Amino acid sequence: MTRQLKLDEKTVLVTGGAGYIGSHACKALKAAGYNPIVFDNLVYGHKEFVKWGPFLEGHLEERAKLDEAINKYRPSAVMHFAAYALVGESVTNPGKYYRNNVSGSLTLLEAMRDYEIKRLVFSSSCATYGVPQTIPIPEDHSQNPINPYGSSKLMMEKMMSDFSIAHGLSFLALRYFNAAGADPDAEVGELHDPETHLIPLVLDAGLKRRPNITVFGTDYDTPDGTCIRDYIHVTDLADAHILALKYLERNSKSGALNLGNGAGYSVKEVITVAEKVMGCKIPVVYGERRAGDPPRLVGNSVKTREILGWNPRFADLQTIILHAYNHRKKAFSI
Ligand code: UFG
Repeated sequence: MTRQLKLDEKTVLVTGGAGYIGSHACKALKAAGYNPIVFDNLVYGHKEFVKWGPFLEGHLEERAKLDEAINKYRPSAVMHFAAYALVGESVTNPGKYYRNNVSGSLTLLEAMRDYEIKRLVFSSSCATYGVPQTIPIPEDHSQNPINPYGSSKLMMEKMMSDFSIAHGLSFLALRYFNAAGADPDAEVGELHDPETHLIPLVLDAGLKRRPNITVFGTDYDTPDGTCIRDYIHVTDLADAHILALKYLERNSKSGALNLGNGAGYSVKEVITVAEKVMGCKIPVVYGERRAGDPPRLVGNSVKTREILGWNPRFADLQTIILHAYNHRKKAFSI
């Protein structure tokens, strides 16, 4: 059922806007002249990260709360970040991932359909590819996720395609590689609880907030035996979201784009660069492989640069780690 509303061209609903990537996107939206409206359940988000627009607390599955947000602020576009994102947990508790990431996203899509909100920028993941057959991975690589998290993101991509055909939705699915770093002004950053990501854990070992960092596996088929990832600065991700939104304003062509730097760094290399940034030795323990970790994930983002005119500003790993370090010291008053 269509509900007539005069939508505001400059207002964007940001689900998960109190989270790591969503909060950086809100800062970028505000700087680009938009009004970001944060919709977040605060399960993993931080109220203090909501700095650039109004806040509404709600779960994606609470359709009445979504209706309230849409009626009050009349967004003409949505940036959809809200999702559970722990790969390991998705294996042990898949229901949590399908309930929130798939069912919740469907509720959002139906609300967008009903209010005729046509533009959607979606936070997808390289986890939708599964184990890569080619490196760097292009967007037309086969998508065979190896965990429920990746499957849940892929299902959303499929739902968006179907809504696009049936209801004229225009979307861009942005498939991130490893989001890292923090706002260069340290206003927001990466604060997960529990923290499972490599860079914040390495920093914590250097800051003596934990005794050491465990390297998961040293027998991979890579030059130094540890896993290789494509780390991308969260501010560069945020920039890409603004460009994606502007792209959708210009034309209604939907699709999927990779967001990575195209350069891979091993776990050992990340630790070495962090030691340089922090000016100290980081205590390292060598452990077993972590289940579900592909040896090498590096993205080909040539198409993203061409189509969106995206140019990462902070591609250098040392800068990525330095910004993460600055925010972490501030967050923990060190
Ligand atoms: N690692 C360690 N020790 C740790 C933590 C991580 O050695 O204590 C290693 C991992 O094994 C991996 C690399 O560091 O090789 C990066 O691990 P992260 O947990 O930081 O990131 P992932 O590559 O596992 O996950 C990221 C995103 C997910 C996304 C996934 C796609 O965080 O949301 O990429 O594979 F789904």
